[in-house]
Amino acid sequence: MNGTSIRILMIEDDPLCVRFIKEILKESSRTRFELLHVGRLNAAMELLKEKVCDAVLLDLNLPDSSGFDTFERVRSQLPSVPVVVMTGLEDEELGIRAAQKGGYYLSKGDVTGHLLISTIQHAIEHMRLLSGLEKSCQQFYHLSAYLQHMREEEKKRIAEELRDELGGLLTTMKMELSTALHDLDKRQAALSGMKDSLTKLIDRGIDTVQRISSDLRPHILDHLGLIPAIEWHIQEFQKRTRIQCKWVLCEGEFPLDKERATAVFRIVQEALTNVARHAKASRVTVEVLRNEDSLQLKIEDNGVGFDEERLNDPHSFGLIGIQERALYLKGQVTIKGVPQKGTTIALTIPLLEMRKGHNDQGDYR
Ligand SMILES: Nc1ncnc2c1ncn2[C@@H]1O[C@H](COP(=O)(O)OP(=O)(O)O)[C@@H](O)[C@H]1O
Ligand SMILES: [Mg+2]
Repeated sequence: MNGTSIRILMIEDDPLCVRFIKEILKESSRTRFELLHVGRLNAAMELLKEKVCDAVLLDLNLPDSSGFDTFERVRSQLPSVPVVVMTGLEDEELGIRAAQKGGYYLSKGDVTGHLLISTIQHAIEHMRLLSGLEKSCQQFYHLSAYLQHMREEEKKRIAEELRDELGGLLTTMKMELSTALHDLDKRQAALSGMKDSLTKLIDRGIDTVQRISSDLRPHILDHLGLIPAIEWHIQEFQKRTRIQCKWVLCEGEFPLDKERATAVFRIVQEALTNVARHAKASRVTVEVLRNEDSLQLKIEDNGVGFDEERLNDPHSFGLIGIQERALYLKGQVTIKGVPQKGTTIALTIPLLEMRKGHNDQGDYR
């Protein structure tokens, strides 16, 4: 909107209708309208390259375009400007279709000054709210991606420090202890016993450091890639929980950068953690399959399942995290718990989208 006036582009080839609308808008006492008029769609498209408008009044049947196609072409050129379709009696159906696709419509036979002006104002206000909402969603998306990134960086740093610093320290301690007690242990049985138990403690310390470090950020994910990391995680999970695991993992390279590969890995990790914590399952299947343009991930258990409301519970942070990561991956996720039957998490990630998107950190296997 330009100060107090509203700029309207009218795309209409019927001069009578144009005159009628001009008169109505001129008579408006509260709001000032500037009306630009063209009779052909191509002329409108040209004009829109230079001029901005606050709303479009559109006739669907023009000399160079007809039917719903007219609406779609205008929408694709002006996604953030409200389009009010003005239909004749015979194409009211198309008006309804336009409304279903985010447009607005008025039947030419019903137009009065009040109806036209309130529809235009409502459409502009509605579009402004929608754009605000979309902007907030975008901001939320970027914030969420940023927070995930920072968390991963932090985990990686702690994992590396644990492994390199503390792990290295314990290994050195073990070697020094062994050297220091090498000669003594023949003479002093007590010291020799102490050496054995200290060595066992240190070994446990090294294992613990490795486990914590891998839980934080598996080394293998950074060095061998997504599929080996998932396989390793399933094997560890099976060892730790004794839940029987079956897995089918595809081979080959994915056009997924590190951040996205990490997001997929974290989804698998969260899903399996839930199986161990809640499912009371005896079996779990993990599948990662790919076709030309998508990656399909499925994790299915035969446990106790859960009620639908769990999904809407704002405290279900693990399940919310899975959905947020799926959003970040521009994928589709379904989480389905069936009480007493089990739980299935299925995710589809479009790979073509990833290939087109930025990939500044190199592909990941
Ligand atoms: N595989 C599963 N089997 C049974 N229940 C599950 C499963 N996954 C999730 N749930 C249910 O959904 C709830 C929410 O899961 P989640 O958001 O990961 O939170 P949390 O694991 O911290 O409880 C769980 O408390 C549990 O009741
Ligand atoms: Mg959880």
